[in-house]
Amino acid sequence: MYIELQRDERVALLTIDRPEALNAMNVEMLNELSVAIEQTEDDDEVRALVITGRGKAFIAGADIAHMQGFSPQQAKEWSELGQSTVGKIESMKKPVIAAVNGYALGGGTELAMACDIRVASDRAVFGQPEVKLGMIAGFGGTQRLTRLVGPGMAKEMLFTGDHYDAEAALRMGLVNKVVPADELLPYCLDMAKRIASRGTLAVRLSKEAVNHGRDMDLEKALHLEATLYAVVFSTDEPCEGCGAFLEKREPKWTSS
Ligand code: HXC
Repeated sequence: MYIELQRDERVALLTIDRPEALNAMNVEMLNELSVAIEQTEDDDEVRALVITGRGKAFIAGADIAHMQGFSPQQAKEWSELGQSTVGKIESMKKPVIAAVNGYALGGGTELAMACDIRVASDRAVFGQPEVKLGMIAGFGGTQRLTRLVGPGMAKEMLFTGDHYDAEAALRMGLVNKVVPADELLPYCLDMAKRIASRGTLAVRLSKEAVNHGRDMDLEKALHLEATLYAVVFSTDEPCEGCGAFLEKREPKWTSS
């Protein structure tokens, strides 16, 4: 087993667990990851997910031994398997926080980018070193990196294969925050609990508005926002949220 999935009340914690290979991703791990994501999505109790890695790495990339000697067809299938797996994280209805505890290289940076929010330990290291192996990023890196940090920084990372520390990742907008290593999980779990305490549908539709609106022109994206705003009002969440504020009490959400 390469994936450990735990739940504490409303928050699930998924740990990538192959520390002897710095959590390098193989087929079995990607398949287990897919199952764990589906389980988390289907669990009505869970409102937010945190993903981290065991040991000194978040994920040191795709398994290099697995890729050596690929035919072009095998390479395409591997890229598509990785893309669809990390794509499941991005398209989850529930919010996902990457707690980047160490090396996040190649597929590791790519998986982190498919999460909604990235928090880095001060020991985290990011990079897209595929060119050093004579290949290109293939789990979404050429596209999500460009959207996240802009084409200039994305090209620098993709062309040089250099490593970037957590502070550099923060400066380029690749991560939201850097925290001391021993505060990483408490910080991320606390943020996940805060998110889990908010309007369930409101959080879900905020994610949908950002994810689906970002590739639309502004007019269409604003139309999407107004439509989703109306959808929330088809439930009793806004009534409960506003009522709780006015009555100076905590809201009680009913939807899952
Ligand atoms: C397979 C890996 C691995 C990887 C580390 N290991 N990364 N095995 N695939 N990606 C293994 C090592 O072989 C070693 O195994 C053990 O983990 C510990 O690694 P060390 O190198 O001894 O650790 P250290 O000296 O601390 O160096 C850490 C490191 C280095 C800087 C992260 O391991 C490294 O550069 N790894 C490769 C990173 C990389 O290139 N990632 C991108 C992969 S391509 P043994 O058995 O010797 O103890 C990719 C493409 C995605 O991700 C898209 C595909 C379509």
